[in-house]
Amino acid sequence: MEIKIEKTEHPGKLGNLDDVAFGSVFTDHMFLMDYYDGEWHDARIVPFADFHIHPAALVLHYGGEIFEGLKAYRTAEGKVQLFRPEQNIQRMYNSAVRMALPLFDKEFMLEALIKFVEVEKDWVPSGFGTSLYLRPFMFGIDPKLGVHASKEATMCIIASPVGSYYAEGINPVKIMIEQEDVRCVIGGTGEAKCGGNYGASTRAGERAEQQGYSQVLWLDGVERKYIEEVGAMNVMFKINGTVVTPELVGSILPGITRKSIIEILKDAGIPVEERRLSVDELVTAMKDGSLEEAWGCGTAAVVSPIGEIAYDGVKYTINEGKIGELTQWLYDELTGIQWGKKEDKFGWITKID
Ligand code: PLP
Ligand code: COI
Repeated sequence: MEIKIEKTEHPGKLGNLDDVAFGSVFTDHMFLMDYYDGEWHDARIVPFADFHIHPAALVLHYGGEIFEGLKAYRTAEGKVQLFRPEQNIQRMYNSAVRMALPLFDKEFMLEALIKFVEVEKDWVPSGFGTSLYLRPFMFGIDPKLGVHASKEATMCIIASPVGSYYAEGINPVKIMIEQEDVRCVIGGTGEAKCGGNYGASTRAGERAEQQGYSQVLWLDGVERKYIEEVGAMNVMFKINGTVVTPELVGSILPGITRKSIIEILKDAGIPVEERRLSVDELVTAMKDGSLEEAWGCGTAAVVSPIGEIAYDGVKYTINEGKIGELTQWLYDELTGIQWGKKEDKFGWITKID
């Protein structure tokens, strides 16, 4: 399918991002494509604008929505590049399968994403730690109140120049283990990137924020015994020299940053285990000092050191609340590849220009 391009007559300008909250300013254009009659139609890049939506649209009632998050980075040479975009497209496809939304041609979506970034490339910022956050998403718009798989949908990509996700930047964040709400269960939608998962987790996140924590650390939804992930990132712990991260049991988002870090660790010969990690084991490791470092990882959060974990009313400080050596190394390795400062030895980079 051809992608039509209609440029805006009122281009905006990339401003300073220092005091801009994550994802609150947007570029000039958006990508759109419509699904009906069993096919995708009218792929186009058009000026950024509001949607008109039927009040009975499926997404507004039954949550038929999926999304992705990835970034375009500007290298020191002024070039623009993407990090493993085909992985995001594949995950979005898997999410569409889980949420009974229309499927799409993955190669075409990758082409659309690249074309969109080409159009918006002047919006990719160049300051330290900044990038252009790309948000592909799809939602069902069938104008009927019956509950069914979506047969009409909108595919969209928007973009937002961003700095750090957390106000703390690379400084350690505080995380609270959630004991009341659960995010997902196996068989539910935890491994899909769908809006509903975030809707279900917002209340706990707000409660944690009121107590001074950045996000919650979720336990499994059945036994409430095993560590799963943080609100917007996967989680890793260095215990006695080994990196332990919860295995992908079906209720956790299979993070692309998580996968990349595991590959970086294995390549460097650092022991890493994907396995179930109980909260009891974690608490013991925090008490006896064998928990050496902890960090969250995700596209928005990058590698985010965790300096404190609260559980059952007790606060545990990790690595004296400072960024750990391995955490810093992983941050440098990963961001080095993403921003083109280090060799792309795993073949993860897609160059835009
Ligand atoms: N877990 C959740 C719940 C997330 O929202 C994210 C962010 O996308 C991640 C994990 C990390 O995934 P990725 O590394 O693909 O960004
Ligand atoms: C991401 O890291 O891309 C996320 O989706 C996190 C968040 C902003 C929901």
